[in-house]
Amino acid sequence: MSRVYNFSAGPAVLPEEVLKTCAAEMLDYHGSGMSVMEMSHRSKEYENILDTAEADFRELLSVPDNYKVLFLQGGGNTQFAMVPMNLMKNKVADYIVTGQWAKKAAREAEMYGKVNIVASSQDKTFSYIPDLSNLDIDDDADYVYICQNNTIYGTTIKELPNTKGKTLVSDVSSMFLSEPMDVSKYGVLWGGVQKNVGPAGVTIVVIREDLITEDVLPGTPTMLRYKTHADNKSLYNTPPCYNIYVCGLVFKWLKEMGGLSVMKERNEEKAKILYDFLDGSQMFKGTVVPKDRSLMNVPFITGNEELDKKFIAEASAAGFKNLKGHRTVGGMRASIYNAMPKEGVVKLVEFMDNFEKNNK
Ligand SMILES: Cc1ncc(COP(=O)(O)O)c(C=O)c1O
Repeated sequence: MSRVYNFSAGPAVLPEEVLKTCAAEMLDYHGSGMSVMEMSHRSKEYENILDTAEADFRELLSVPDNYKVLFLQGGGNTQFAMVPMNLMKNKVADYIVTGQWAKKAAREAEMYGKVNIVASSQDKTFSYIPDLSNLDIDDDADYVYICQNNTIYGTTIKELPNTKGKTLVSDVSSMFLSEPMDVSKYGVLWGGVQKNVGPAGVTIVVIREDLITEDVLPGTPTMLRYKTHADNKSLYNTPPCYNIYVCGLVFKWLKEMGGLSVMKERNEEKAKILYDFLDGSQMFKGTVVPKDRSLMNVPFITGNEELDKKFIAEASAAGFKNLKGHRTVGGMRASIYNAMPKEGVVKLVEFMDNFEKNNK
C-alpha cells in the first residue's frame, strides 16, 4: 500500500487512523455482526453512534446549550437555500461576498427576498477581505451572511463583521474544526464535512434555538425546515448513517490530538512553512494579501501557465496530488486541512524548492 499526499480541496484527506478504524470495523461493528452501513438508523447501536458524534462535536467546538447541532444532507448548496427559507422573515438579508461560494449563496437567496451586497472583494479577484467593521447594514435585514474561509481564493475572515445586532450566518465548510470558534457570536454556522471533517454527504448545522421556528417562507419543504430536523434529533428521515459514523471517528481523533486549540497550532505551523517558502521564492507567489491568508487553502502561481502545468504534472508524478487550482482561477492550490501531516507540507516545499532550482 502506498498513500500519496492529497492536497485536494474536498473531498479531502482523512486521518489515516480513522480510515484504519473504518477498515477494521467494516464487517463487524463492535460485535454487532454487521457493518455500520447495514444498520438500521433506528437501532440502539446507531443511536449511540449519532449521540456520541453529537456529544463529541459539542465538546470540541464548545457549543452552548442553547444551540442545536443538526446532521443534514444536501451539501452546502442546500444551505444556500435553507438559510433564506428559514430565516428571511422580513425578506431582506445582507451578504458579504468574498468569493464564489458567498456569491452563489447570495444568488440563491435572491430567489426569496431582497439581497444587499454590503461588502465585496470581487474588484481584486477576491484576493483580500474587505473592512467589515462599519457596514451599511439594512435595518430590516434578517441576517448578515459570510463565507468565513474561501476555499477557492484562500482567504479567511479573521475579524467577524460588525452586524450591528443582526444575526450572523457563516459558512465554515473549509475551516470546520480547524481552530476554536466562539459559537455564541453566530446565529447559524454550518459546514459541509467533506473538507475537514469526514466523507461528503453530511452538512453540520449549528443553530441558535430561537432561530428554529415554524415561521418559515411559504412553500418551504418539510425536509428544508431546520425545525423538522431539530425536533427529530437529525433522524426525521434516514440520515447518511455511515458518513456520520466516520465524522464521529474524526471527532474522536481530534479529541485525541488535543482538541481544536492544538489543531490551530498545528495548522498555523504547517501553513507558515508553506507561506514562508512562497514569500522567499523567486518562482512561486502566493495570490492573497498576507493578513487575510487562509490556514487551510493556499493558492499560488508561477505567473507562467506552462510552468504551472509542468509543476502540477511533475508534482503529481512525485506523489503530491490534486495541486491544480480551482478551474475558475488556475494556478495551484494546496489544501492543508487538519489531516494533512506536517511532513506532507515539508516534503511539498522541498519539492517546490527543487523544481525552482531545476527550472531557472
Ligand atoms: C466554502 C464552501 N461553501 C460551499 C461549498 C459547496 O458545497 P457543496 O458542494 O457541498 O454543495 C463549498 C464546496 O467546495 C465550499 O468550499
